Amino acid sequence: KRPAGAPDRELAQPVKKVGVIGAGLMASQFALLFARKLRVPVLITDLDQSRVDKGLDYIRGEIDTMQEKGRLSPDDANQIKALVSGTTDKSLYADCDWVIEAVFEELGVKQQVFAEIEPIISETAVLATNTSSLSVEEIGANLAHPERLVGFHFFNPVAVMPLIEVVRVPSTSDETLATAMAVAKKLGKSAVITADRPGFVVNRLLAKVMGEAARALDEGTPMPVVERALAPIGLPMGPFELIDLVGWKVAAHVQDTMVAAFPERFYASENLHRLAEVEGPLSKSKLGKVEDLSKAGKKAVTI
Ligand code: 3HC
Repeated sequence: KRPAGAPDRELAQPVKKVGVIGAGLMASQFALLFARKLRVPVLITDLDQSRVDKGLDYIRGEIDTMQEKGRLSPDDANQIKALVSGTTDKSLYADCDWVIEAVFEELGVKQQVFAEIEPIISETAVLATNTSSLSVEEIGANLAHPERLVGFHFFNPVAVMPLIEVVRVPSTSDETLATAMAVAKKLGKSAVITADRPGFVVNRLLAKVMGEAARALDEGTPMPVVERALAPIGLPMGPFELIDLVGWKVAAHVQDTMVAAFPERFYASENLHRLAEVEGPLSKSKLGKVEDLSKAGKKAVTI
């Protein structure tokens, strides 16, 4: 059955080579997924070779783990490793028909990246963004071919989370949307087509949960209490463990976007920002350990 709002699947264009802009954790996770599921070459770039190498190391490590667990045969593992390559030379995107960015969540940075890439790729190649809460339309505002633009939002951990939010903007062509839906299907994910509104659907709901958890903290309820109180209602993880998973800076950024868009509906937490400034994860081993939190400089938190 065709998902709501999806165009005719016959319009989908073949994807024979994938470009991934950014080699951070999110980008590396889905680069691996593209190689595993589409079995096409996947090219990763980043600002410098050390970032690229870090992404490639992560991918090779994950492939090794899957092989050790018996989920990939040695042949498959070698084939997938050979499909993924990394460089700082963006001109190698020229023959990609699907390019997706997952660079820093700042509008100007993402616009700049698209401005750099568009003259390199073919007129029909799709440009996708994995933005979690910026406006997809604004990211692609300067494109010569805005019909190729689509939001393609993955969730953490990419290998496990079954959903992709496909964000259609007014300029997105039926061909681009059909290609995005076909790609999501090949990746083994469920896709929903969402409007280009702040937080799309999932982050709008999650920002509420995370924001209210942060409010409870600001109002003096200790973090472990908030965490423990929510576990028995069946959530796979508590709100702060989830923030750890997606990254404190990402969570704070999503929160900022939601507060800016709907100031009367979302809560701006000082503590969320202070915690985001401190590197490293909080939860699991550290969660609730007063001394660890204060040593890490997280003094604003009342535990
Ligand atoms: N990478 C790859 N695989 C992973 C993984 C990772 N980072 N983390 C867990 N897995 C796999 C494990 O290998 C395991 O697979 P197996 O059963 O085949 O061996 C499976 O997931 C289950 O893992 P565990 O048994 O270790 O742990 P849990 O059963 O507790 O599940 C979880 C872990 C799937 C992460 C679960 O806690 C969960 O669903 N948490 C909620 C995650 C969530 O809500 N994500 C969305 C965040 S929002 C976002 O990303 C958007 C962004 O824009 C902010």
